[in-house]
Amino acid sequence: MKVVLFDIESHFTPAVMEEAMDLVRETNEYDLTQPEEGFYHFISRQPDYHVEMAFKSDGTVSAKCQCTVFKRTRQCKHALAALLMLRDHILRSRRAKSKSKHENLLLDDVLKKMTVTELRNFISTHAQSHSAFRAEILANYLHLIKKPDYHHLLLDMTPMDKFGTIKLNRNNLKTVRNIIGTLLRQAQQLLKEKALSETFQILEATLHHLYRLSIKVPQFQEQLYTELRLALRIFDTLCHQSMAPRLQHSAFVLAMDISGREGYTFLKGTKPLLLSIEPFILEEKSRLAAFQLAEKKAILDSRQQLSWASIVMRWMRLWDIRSTGKPVKAVLNRLMPDILQELSRQGDHEDVIYSLHFVQTDTYPKTILKGMLQAGLRAARQTGDRALVSRLAYQLSLSYLDTDAWDILLETDHESAQRILKVVKEYYAPATDEVADQLLLRGWSATGDKDELLGRLNAIGDMNLLIRFDDQLKTSHRTQLEDVYATHIYATREAYGGVIARQKLSNIFGHLKSIDLSAGVAEKLKLMDKKNKGGTGPQAADIRGFVFDLDGVIVDTAVHHFQSWKIILKELGADITEEDDHHTRGASRMESLEYLLTRYGIKLTHEEKEMWAAKKNEVYLEAIEQITPRDLLPGALAFLIDTRKAGLKLALGSASKNARGVLKKLAIEDRFDAILDGNDAKESKPNPEIFTKACEALQLDPAEVVVFEDAAKGVQAALAAGCHAVGLGDPMALKEADIVISGLDQSTPTLIIEQLS
Ligand code: G6P
Ligand code: MG
Repeated sequence: MKVVLFDIESHFTPAVMEEAMDLVRETNEYDLTQPEEGFYHFISRQPDYHVEMAFKSDGTVSAKCQCTVFKRTRQCKHALAALLMLRDHILRSRRAKSKSKHENLLLDDVLKKMTVTELRNFISTHAQSHSAFRAEILANYLHLIKKPDYHHLLLDMTPMDKFGTIKLNRNNLKTVRNIIGTLLRQAQQLLKEKALSETFQILEATLHHLYRLSIKVPQFQEQLYTELRLALRIFDTLCHQSMAPRLQHSAFVLAMDISGREGYTFLKGTKPLLLSIEPFILEEKSRLAAFQLAEKKAILDSRQQLSWASIVMRWMRLWDIRSTGKPVKAVLNRLMPDILQELSRQGDHEDVIYSLHFVQTDTYPKTILKGMLQAGLRAARQTGDRALVSRLAYQLSLSYLDTDAWDILLETDHESAQRILKVVKEYYAPATDEVADQLLLRGWSATGDKDELLGRLNAIGDMNLLIRFDDQLKTSHRTQLEDVYATHIYATREAYGGVIARQKLSNIFGHLKSIDLSAGVAEKLKLMDKKNKGGTGPQAADIRGFVFDLDGVIVDTAVHHFQSWKIILKELGADITEEDDHHTRGASRMESLEYLLTRYGIKLTHEEKEMWAAKKNEVYLEAIEQITPRDLLPGALAFLIDTRKAGLKLALGSASKNARGVLKKLAIEDRFDAILDGNDAKESKPNPEIFTKACEALQLDPAEVVVFEDAAKGVQAALAAGCHAVGLGDPMALKEADIVISGLDQSTPTLIIEQLS
C-alpha cells in the first residue's frame, strides 16, 4: 500500500483508522530501524507483526506487511499502524531537534509535493494539533480552506492546564508569537490581494487572542504588544478599504467587544479600535452604543480616563450627541485641561475647538485656563479660523498678558492688538505688573509707537529695560532719552553718594558710551547740578482735613458691588473673577461696565450699556436694602468722631451715585462738612477730579488733605490730586499709598498725622 505519510488519514475511512489507532495503543514493545536511507523496518513483539516501509522521494511511503490479510488485500491494520508510528517518530525527532534550515527545507519539500486537495484534507484533519511544527503549517495554509478556524488554532497552540489557565513561559511564548506573526503576515498578504473578509477572519482571531493573552499573562505584555501593534495597524488599514456592510458590521462588533473588555488597553502609537471603525458607525443605534461604552469607560477605567474622555468629546462633536450623565460631565470637566492638551497633541484641531465650548472658566486655576486657551489658539490657527484666532488671541493678551498671543493678534487683527495696548496701559500703572509692562513695551516697539514706549520706560524707571529698548529711540527721541538717563543718574548720586553710585551706574555709563549718548547726558547732568544747588526740598504741609471714600472704607458695600457685577455678567454669558474686583473697585458704574465688556469681549450698543448698568444698580440696591448703622466697618464711626475731635475737616469722596442713600441708612450723613459723590464728578478715579473738588469744598489745599481709600484707583486719584493717601486693605495692591493699614480700627487720626509728618 502507498500513502502520503503526512496525510495518511485522507486515504482511509474513519473505521479503518480507528482500528489502526487501537492497534497503535496496544503496541507497547517494538523496534523501528532504518537499515538504509529511506528504508524502515518495523518489528513488533507485543502483539506480533512485521512491516517494511520505503520512503520515496515524492513524499509517499509504501508499506508491506507479512500478514495474510495484507497478502490478500494489499492493505492491513498492521501496515497502517506502523505508518502512524513512523510518522510520529519522524515528527518527534524533528521536534526534538531545534528547527534547522534543513528541516525547513524538508517541510517545504513535503508541502510542495502535496496537492491542494491533499493539503486541505491534511489541514482539516490536523486542526487540533498540539505541535508547533504543524501549527506553523496551518498558519501558512489555513486560509486556503473554506472555513478556517483560526480561533481553534490559536487556542490549541497556547499551552493551558486542565483548568484552562494559560501556561506561557519564555519558550512557548516564542512559538506562540511566531505563529501569530505568520498569521499576520498572511493577513497583510491577503489584504494586498484585496481578500478583505479573509483578512478580517485572521485579524478577528489574532486580536481577540492577543488581548486575551496580554490580560491573562501580563508579564509578557510588552513582547505581545509587538504583534498587537502590527495587528492593530493592519486592522486600521483594512477599515480604510471599501468593506461590504456585513464585514463592516463584524468589524464594529469586534471593536466594541474588545474595547468593552475589562483590562482593554490603548496602545501607544496605534489607533484605538473604535476610532478605526468610526467612519462606518453610521446608524444612530450603533453610535449611541459606542458612545455609551466610551462614557462608561471614561467613568470606570481610571487608568485610561483621559483617552476615553477624549473619545467622548470627539463623538459629541462628530455625532452631535449630548452627554447627559452627571458623572461623565464631572469627569469631562475635571479632565478638560488634559483633554484639550491630548487632542491638541493628536492634531485633532476641530475637537479642540469644539471642546473649548465646554470650558467653564471659573472652575480652573488661571494658569491652566491659559494653557487651554493657548491650545485653542493653536487649533484655530491650524484650521485657519481667523475670527476664532483673533478672539482667543485677544482674550489671552488681555486676561493673561500673553505676549506671544498678542503677536499673533497683531498679525490677524491689527486694530484689536492696538486696542489691547490701550486697555492694558489704562489698567496697569507702570511698574505695578511686570508682565503688563513687558507686553506694552514689546507691543509699542512692534507697532513703532515710540512716544508710548519712551513714556512707559521712563515711568517704570528700570534702566535695564531702557537699555534694552533705547536703540529704537535714540534717533527719534534723543533729548528725551538723555533726560531720562540724566535724571536717573542724578537721583542715584543723591541717594548713594560717590563710590556706591558709581558702582551702581557703571553699566549705564558703559552703555551710554556704546550708543553715543554720553556727551549729551553729561551736559544735562551739569545743568541739573546748577539748578538744584541751594534749593530746598518739598516741605510737609500741616494736615487739616480728611476725605473718606465710602465703599470698602466706611461700609462693606464693595462686596455687593462686585456680586452685582457677577450676576449681571453671568446674564451676559461671562464668569468674572476675583481679579476683576481690583479693576472695578473705585471705578464709576459705567467705567466698570466698560471694563468688564472689553475684558470678556462683549459688544453692546450705547442703549444696551445704559440698560445693563441700570440693571446692575437694581441688583445692587436690592442687596443693600437692609443696611443699618450696624453695618459700619469696625472702627469707622469712632474714627470719624476722633477726626472731628482732632479739629480736622471731613469730607466724603465716593464715585458712587448711591453714596448719599447709603450714608442715610448708616445715619452718618451729618458728620461730614462736604459730601461729594458720583453725581459730582464727570471723570472716574484714578482721575483726581472728585478729590480736587472735595478739597475745594473744604477750602483746603490738597497738600493739607489725607484721603482714605480701599481701591488702587482711588489711591492714584488722591495722589494725582496732590493729597496724601492712606490705603485700606492689601499692602501689595495699594503699594502706591503713603501708608497702608488693614482698617480704620487699626489706627487713629493723630497717629496717621504723626506718620505722615
Ligand atoms: C464705588 C465702588 C465701585 C462702584 C462705584 C459706583 O466707587 O467702589 O465699585 O462701581 O462706587 O457706584 P454706583 O453706586 O454709582 O453704581
Ligand atoms: Mg471704595
